[in-house]
Amino acid sequence: MNAGFWCVWFVACAGVAKLLAIAENSLHSCGYRRVTLQRVRGVHNLLLFSYPLLLIWRVGFSGPKWATAANTPPLTMATALWLLPGMIGFVLLILSTIRHWRYRPPAFETVLRSDVIDVAERLPITELVGNGRAKWLAKLPYNQQFQLEIVEKSYPFARLPKAWDGLSIVHFSDVHFRGPVTRRYFEEVMREAAALQGDLIFFTGDLMDHRQCLEWIPSTLGTLSAPLGCYFVLGNHDWYLPVTDEMRQRLQSHGWKDTSGRVIELQRGEDRIVIAGTERPWMGTAPDFTGAPAEAFRIVLSHGPDQIDWAEANRVDLMFAGHTHGGQIRLPILGPVYAPSRYSCRYASGVFYRPPTLMSVTRGISGREPIRYNCRPELSKVILRCG
Ligand SMILES: [Fe+2]
Repeated sequence: MNAGFWCVWFVACAGVAKLLAIAENSLHSCGYRRVTLQRVRGVHNLLLFSYPLLLIWRVGFSGPKWATAANTPPLTMATALWLLPGMIGFVLLILSTIRHWRYRPPAFETVLRSDVIDVAERLPITELVGNGRAKWLAKLPYNQQFQLEIVEKSYPFARLPKAWDGLSIVHFSDVHFRGPVTRRYFEEVMREAAALQGDLIFFTGDLMDHRQCLEWIPSTLGTLSAPLGCYFVLGNHDWYLPVTDEMRQRLQSHGWKDTSGRVIELQRGEDRIVIAGTERPWMGTAPDFTGAPAEAFRIVLSHGPDQIDWAEANRVDLMFAGHTHGGQIRLPILGPVYAPSRYSCRYASGVFYRPPTLMSVTRGISGREPIRYNCRPELSKVILRCG
């Protein structure tokens, strides 16, 4: 083997890995059931690990002479076809890396606070890591699962009515109650959410992965309240469970308002805003704004960021989303690789302005697998200003 061979091999394998990640991300953004997605994951893993070996088998252990020497037989069509997907994928990998590095939040954003609270320093790790096969992940060195980042940001909106200037919204998403991370951790996070004292509190779905965790609601989300109310949509992981309706009922019994497919109007004097929610493509219908006052400022809770096109077309002013978890593992240089969106990692996390919609995508609080590198859990407070 020679350096030329390894160069080609590496580029092709990285490219194929990128193509597989794009396919995986796209399929996980559709409304498929978990069993289908598990099969997709199986095929993904098989191709990911077999392609590097198949490429060595196809090209040969002696290495391709065309990669290193002059006056040698040209690359055959058959070998080129094996390499083609990798080359295409590698170009996409470079483009997505450039996009990752070029990301900037909107210029009109003001960051008021950004603190990291290491819950593992407050509480012993034995109180934070619970049961389940994935619990070992939570104990991995440098895992940021328990390093909660709290951010407060402010944005001006030309369409925000004067009476609503200063409205504050606490937003969190993707708590994924399951077992490897204990209820105790989430109780601590909810305490921090309450301390932010938002006028509104939004939760954008993926409440749990085990039905037994219904019992966790009273001491976690059930403890929260806000002057203008707590609002929620559910997510795809909630849809996978046979207790979705019970989740809604329990949240509602603790004062939370279900926004899925609904448009809820709030009024201060003559000035109105509307709060709507969408759980598309997994559940319900998209909210219909035709009955709402045209001048009302529109805020939407969406489980996933892929609804940005719908939001833009429906003149939504502000949209909150989760689902992508920031990618959970953000590689050096490359950034996030896996984020279940048809835009792949473009909207993995951050704030994006696609006029007239400003979309805030949170990294979420946890995940089905409690592992986070360079991607802390996030709790945010957004303050709306007239401007
Ligand atoms: Fe999630």
